Amino acid sequence: MSTVTSNIESVLQEERHFPPPAEFAQRAHIKSMAELETLRAEAAADPESFWARMAEELHWFKRWDTVLKWDPPHAEWFGGGRINISYNCLDRHLATWRRNKAALIWEGEPGETRTFTYQQLHTEVCKFANVLKHANVKRGDRVALYMPLIPELAIAMLACARIGATHSVVFGGFSSSALVDRINDASCKLVVTADGGWRRGNEVKLKTAVDEALKECPSVNACIVVRRTGSPQHMQEGRDFWWHELMETVDANCPAEELDSEHPLYILYTSGTTGKPKGILHTTAGYLLQAHLTTKWVFDIKDEDLYWCTADIGWVTGHSYVVYGPLSNGASVLMYEGAPNFPEPDRFWTMIERHRVNIFYTAPTAIRAFIKWGDQWPSKHDLSSLRLLGTVGEPINPEAWMWYRKVIGKERCPIVDTWWQTETGAIAITPIPGATTTTPGSATLPFPGIDADVMTRDGKPVGANQGGYLVIKRPWPSMLRTIWGDDERYKQQYWSQIEGIYFAGDGARRDNDGYFWIMGRIDDVINVSGHRLGTAEIESALVSHGAVAEAAVVARPDDLKGSSIVAFVTLEGSHNPSDGLNQELRAHVVKEIGALARPDDIRFTDALPKTRSGKIMRRLLREIATSGTVAGDVTTLEDFSVLEKLRAEEE
Ligand code: WTA
Repeated sequence: MSTVTSNIESVLQEERHFPPPAEFAQRAHIKSMAELETLRAEAAADPESFWARMAEELHWFKRWDTVLKWDPPHAEWFGGGRINISYNCLDRHLATWRRNKAALIWEGEPGETRTFTYQQLHTEVCKFANVLKHANVKRGDRVALYMPLIPELAIAMLACARIGATHSVVFGGFSSSALVDRINDASCKLVVTADGGWRRGNEVKLKTAVDEALKECPSVNACIVVRRTGSPQHMQEGRDFWWHELMETVDANCPAEELDSEHPLYILYTSGTTGKPKGILHTTAGYLLQAHLTTKWVFDIKDEDLYWCTADIGWVTGHSYVVYGPLSNGASVLMYEGAPNFPEPDRFWTMIERHRVNIFYTAPTAIRAFIKWGDQWPSKHDLSSLRLLGTVGEPINPEAWMWYRKVIGKERCPIVDTWWQTETGAIAITPIPGATTTTPGSATLPFPGIDADVMTRDGKPVGANQGGYLVIKRPWPSMLRTIWGDDERYKQQYWSQIEGIYFAGDGARRDNDGYFWIMGRIDDVINVSGHRLGTAEIESALVSHGAVAEAAVVARPDDLKGSSIVAFVTLEGSHNPSDGLNQELRAHVVKEIGALARPDDIRFTDALPKTRSGKIMRRLLREIATSGTVAGDVTTLEDFSVLEKLRAEEE
């Protein structure tokens, strides 16, 4: 492999390879490809012994009896063990010098900062755990967290974990209807929220959305509200309580519960191929192990580092790489509440400069926005503290990768392009920065112990450079355990597409070096600005509007957001297309799901193209949305005139 650092634009992407810088590798946890290959070989030969050896890094109240019981597709990891993730993230650091180390450094969008040492965070978590107990939250109960990106969200998660309550974080950008579905699916007993949060200078009114939602959530008997923005709130007597008032009524003594390894830690909803979001269930020990180990090796985290993952905690990236992974490693984590372009497009760079951030983990959609805003914004700031960059959430285009390397990393920082999913719980395919030679656009190779591959639909391996389906052939510790309340769907969607093998839902190929190139979703899931949305969910939202008879939603490639959302809509007989209705439907989707699902484009049509069996031919719609014409095979189309009309409407 050759190293090419100049004249990159004219070189084929496959030719650009970047070995780890020698100084970086020398100081890294994993220092060479040879060392990494040894670990991979050890894990491949005997995965259970490998994971067991790694599990020694965690604190156990009682050691496990069996590493893995695999009754496909159900895995039990570290059976017989007793453990607590909040203990691992907090208490075990208190006996060391880290007690007074910054665990969380938080910056609000308006600019204020708050810092919690491990000792202080422990105190807050213990107190809130006692608040939960007083609210009658018991081991196994579900608690919904619908909050801005403020320290209290991490505190609430760790407090739930401390007493064995299962948290369900709902992203603050979801609407009250989406919140209702998620609360009811898991029968949450309690909701923790805030009056609001700041986003691009505006208040996101969370408590108002909760008030609306709780009209339809019979399982909820209390709501705890953090005062964040100070805007006036209606507090319902007997149901709503202020966080700060309850915290004054409890003490800071709350020992962590000794929980089974497989105790349910959290549910996190994600989009699938049907209208109903899937509650992905993660349990305790295996999840912690892999979040811990990937944070250590992939981000090469050291005690002296300041680490910043820009993800919202409402997504899995925030669970594993803002909260559990870094805190378990005793790291210092920077957390930021607001938008990257508030008050100016250099907010992130000012923060890196002011806080002297060392490790920075963000999403390709953010990187593309930075490129668009212009190099003058990062160029104004001293980014020399950075030593490692990461990306996650969608395929990164090689140009964006090169920009990130050059303009942010000054050709000095390795980049880790990490592939994983809500379902995998932790990073699964990734460079290890002191070991792996990277190439722009490739997530490179599987993490040790992850048996990833690319297969045909019927489970045959594909050759080098041939496209296929991304799979994982063996269970891994942080894998999802089921879909909450729907084990059948868990079996069917993940383990039956190719019998007995985990089906990720992504297309991929491996190159001649075995490197993985992720090509994106192959199902009806679209990735808008790194957010996973089911086309079926948006379609259901549209159809729930009285004027809509039928809707089909497809993705159109978008330079900035990765994909934009195009909806083809047929109307009920008594309604006619109009600009007003167009606006109304877009607003309706925002109300049903949230602004993240707002269609960019709504096209009214008399009919949708369907197969003889009645299935909407989204492929054709995708082509029309993207290029305005259809070149692909249309032999299965039932009514050719529909296509002609759509084409005509395009012209
Ligand atoms: C996509 C986010 C290419 C992929 C952690 C996956 C990626 C989905 C990458 C999961 C990457 C994530 N390269 N594609 N490095 N990382 N994806 O559940 O399509 O929100 O299936 O988890 O994002 O999205 P999710």
